[in-house]
Amino acid sequence: MRQGWTVDRLRGELDRGLARVVVADLEGRLAGHAIGWAVAGEAQILDVRVAEWARRRGLGGRLVDALVEACEGEVALLEVRADNVAAIGLYGALGFVVNGRRSAYYPDGTDALLMQRPA
Ligand SMILES: CC(C)(COP(=O)(O)OP(=O)(O)OC[C@H]1O[C@@H](n2cnc3c(N)ncnc32)[C@H](O)[C@@H]1OP(=O)(O)O)[C@@H](O)C(=O)NCCC(=O)NCCS
Repeated sequence: MRQGWTVDRLRGELDRGLARVVVADLEGRLAGHAIGWAVAGEAQILDVRVAEWARRRGLGGRLVDALVEACEGEVALLEVRADNVAAIGLYGALGFVVNGRRSAYYPDGTDALLMQRPA
């Protein structure tokens, strides 16, 4: 996933009919979000983020599952930085498998891994 989510970009996504956003509330605080597109029978996961203070409590997994359900797709797809150990661990734990690699996809030259699983 490319970084750089801003309020304006989020607003723009929400104006598109394809966008789905789920948020996590923990102890009355915004603890995380997941953003995706529901397109052509696919759940395309664009961004998943959990606040540092709320990590390793299962929220990331619940956000991904809720987003995929909201997209009502048959398959869930994403791309992730090849050096993002936490995210690759999360998606692996959720049953995603690597099915491709984009060389030097990110501006700093890091590869992107393409991952997917049946929704
Ligand atoms: C990736 C991220 C969303 C995970 O959120 P989280 O709420 O901590 O994840 P969960 O608690 O649901 O973790 C579920 C499983 O994922 C794996 N996992 C999560 N964080 C991990 C880490 N740092 N290292 C290795 N595995 C990890 C583990 O298998 C974990 O299960 P366990 O805690 O029982 O061992 C969070 O670290 C984050 O916001 N990172 C910064 C943003 C980011 O990189 N987003 C992904 C963009 S593609």
